[in-house]
Amino acid sequence: MKAKELKKKYIKFFKEKGHAIIESASLIPDNDPTVLFTTAGMHPLVPFLVGQPHPLGKRIVDAQRCIRTQDIDEVGDDIHTTFFEMLGNWSLGDYFKKEAIEWSYEFLTSKKWLGLDSKRISITCFKGDKDAPKDNEASEIWKSVGIPNERIAFLGKKDNWWGPAGETGPCGPDTEMFYWSPNNIPAPKKFNPEDKRWVEIWNDVFMQYNKTKEGKFEPLKQKNVDTGMGLERVAMVLQGKTDLFEIELFKPIINKIKTISGKDITKANKQSFRIITDHTKAATFILGDERGVPPSNLDQGYILRRYIRRSLRHLRLLGVDLLSMDTTVELAKVVIEIYKEDYPLLKQKKDFIFDELKKEEDKFQKTLDKGLKEFRKMVDKDSQITAKEAFLLYQSYGFPIEMIEE
Ligand code: ALA
Repeated sequence: MKAKELKKKYIKFFKEKGHAIIESASLIPDNDPTVLFTTAGMHPLVPFLVGQPHPLGKRIVDAQRCIRTQDIDEVGDDIHTTFFEMLGNWSLGDYFKKEAIEWSYEFLTSKKWLGLDSKRISITCFKGDKDAPKDNEASEIWKSVGIPNERIAFLGKKDNWWGPAGETGPCGPDTEMFYWSPNNIPAPKKFNPEDKRWVEIWNDVFMQYNKTKEGKFEPLKQKNVDTGMGLERVAMVLQGKTDLFEIELFKPIINKIKTISGKDITKANKQSFRIITDHTKAATFILGDERGVPPSNLDQGYILRRYIRRSLRHLRLLGVDLLSMDTTVELAKVVIEIYKEDYPLLKQKKDFIFDELKKEEDKFQKTLDKGLKEFRKMVDKDSQITAKEAFLLYQSYGFPIEMIEE
């Protein structure tokens, strides 16, 4: 099943359960100083999770584009990206654990919907601490739908607690669903959450606390459900794959990098392929957003600059001559082609996207030229780069530390 069909099915399933459909909000939050980007589907819904009535009612469903820069160092493995789409359903003070879990299970396993093998599903629940009790209620509901005891693990806050999205706000214990991804190996009887072959695919958060500035967890006015299903990851398991970058939302970008670099993927360069793919996609979406910003030295513009420059650096590592073409523009064209139906704004803003990418490529090239000149002077002087010099190269010439190491 392709991601597009999965998205349609998800929305249809929750529509049948009485949920109103909303559009993906902007990647750049409106008036929220706590985060630079929308990091989850719940983010634009925070006012409604803390009590403001939503004009469309108490049940909401959507597909939200998200950016999680905190995962940037994980990009390079089989399943992490910083840009992704999150499918989510919300109860705003309406249904709670029972319906949320039963519907998650139904959507994943029913032949009418995804038809995933229930014997390949494992679950984690919150083990309890000083702020909230162990979530036996969730585990009992999982057992009642047929998940055996040995496939349920209890973990602490680091794993089974979600939110707030910024420093304060709504949060709560969650229960996560994992799928045994290797096609050709039967799922082990007992679930080991450390085994990376169990891929997290969906998270149901029982959002009933508000974290205060002082770090206290106070009960919210209403009990909410906030869920997040990773569109790309679920498409991956539905397609029987273990590498996210093999699905149709990434593959054309990977192929374009192959053409541009004339290189095939090897163990040594795989990480570069994946970083370039994720970062150029994120950059295209930031530029092509309704609140899109150009690269700069501040906030979202700074992150965008880092995305573009990091892509360029990895393109260089693949041996691409940056002067030979506007490489990120070529990649952005592929991104727009993949997403033009779901996100028509990307196409409408394509001139802005291409212009800004081109300008940033030129600026980076100048930075490199100037920085390299200074770098050579320093090395010629005493055959080394001191920490002070490295700092100067970065501070005064914008020459990235990674380039110095390289
Ligand atoms: N907000 C939850 C998450 O992002 C669903 O995982």
